[in-house]
Amino acid sequence: MKRLAILGALHEEIADLLAAMEPGATVHRIAMRDFHVGTLWGTPCVIALSRIGKVAASATASIVIREFDVSRVIFTGLAGGLHADVEVGDVVVASTLMQHDMDARPLFDQHEIPLLGRVCFDADAGMSKLLRDSAVTFTQAFTHASPGAATQAMPTVHHGLIATGDRFVSHNDEAQVLRKRLPTALCVEMEGAAMAQVCYEFGVPFAVLRVISDRADHAAKTDFTAFLENVARVYSAGILSPLLKSGALLDG
Ligand code: ADE
Repeated sequence: MKRLAILGALHEEIADLLAAMEPGATVHRIAMRDFHVGTLWGTPCVIALSRIGKVAASATASIVIREFDVSRVIFTGLAGGLHADVEVGDVVVASTLMQHDMDARPLFDQHEIPLLGRVCFDADAGMSKLLRDSAVTFTQAFTHASPGAATQAMPTVHHGLIATGDRFVSHNDEAQVLRKRLPTALCVEMEGAAMAQVCYEFGVPFAVLRVISDRADHAAKTDFTAFLENVARVYSAGILSPLLKSGALLDG
C-alpha cells in the first residue's frame, strides 16, 4: 500500500504526529532531513520536517515522492492572515496556491512559473474537503473545550487561495501591497506553492492545511512565536487524527 506523506516546516508543527506514530517506525536520513516511515493512526505514512522556505519544501517533496512510494502529500503548518476575514486561530485549507514572489517580467507575466505556463497549482478537491470537514469539527470542539470559550469567537475554516513566498511578512506595508496585488489571497506562508509545484510536476495529489498564527503585520513575530509554542501541534494532530483513523486517506 502506498503511503501518505505529511510535511511541516517546523518541529512544533509535526511534533504530535511524530509522537503518535505506532512503534516500529524507522528513520531515514536523506539530504540533512529525517524521514519517519511507519503507521500513523492506522495509515501508512512518511512524516518529514521540511524546514522553512520554498527550496526546502521543494527538496523535501521531491525526496518523499521519489524515495518513499507516496500517493498523496499533505503540508501542515502556520500562516499569516492576509484577507480581512481571516483571523488568528482560523484555519485555511488551500483550493489553489501561487508563488507571490515569482516575477520573471518582462520575459513572463508576473507570478507565472516560467516554462510551465501557469500561476496556480490546484489542491486535490477530495483531500481538501476531508480536511475542511475535519477542521470544522475540530475547531468547534476546541473552542468549547477552551477556558473562556464563551467570550471567544468560533474560528472559521476558510477555503481558497494561499500565497507562498520566501518572506516572513511582518510589516503592515508589505501585507497591504500583497492584499492589493492579490485580493483573493487568504493567507501568506513560505512553502505551500513550492511543494504544490513539485507535486503537480510529479502528478501526485496534495493538500495544504494552515492555521493562522498572525496577521502578517508588525506583531507577526510575537504572535507567530506564541502560537507555535502553544497551539500549532494541537491543531495539526487534532485535525488529522480523525481523518487518518477513519481510513479516508488510505490508498486504494
Ligand atoms: N507563516 C506564519 N506567519 C507568516 C507570515 N507572517 N509570513 C510568512 N509566513 C508565515
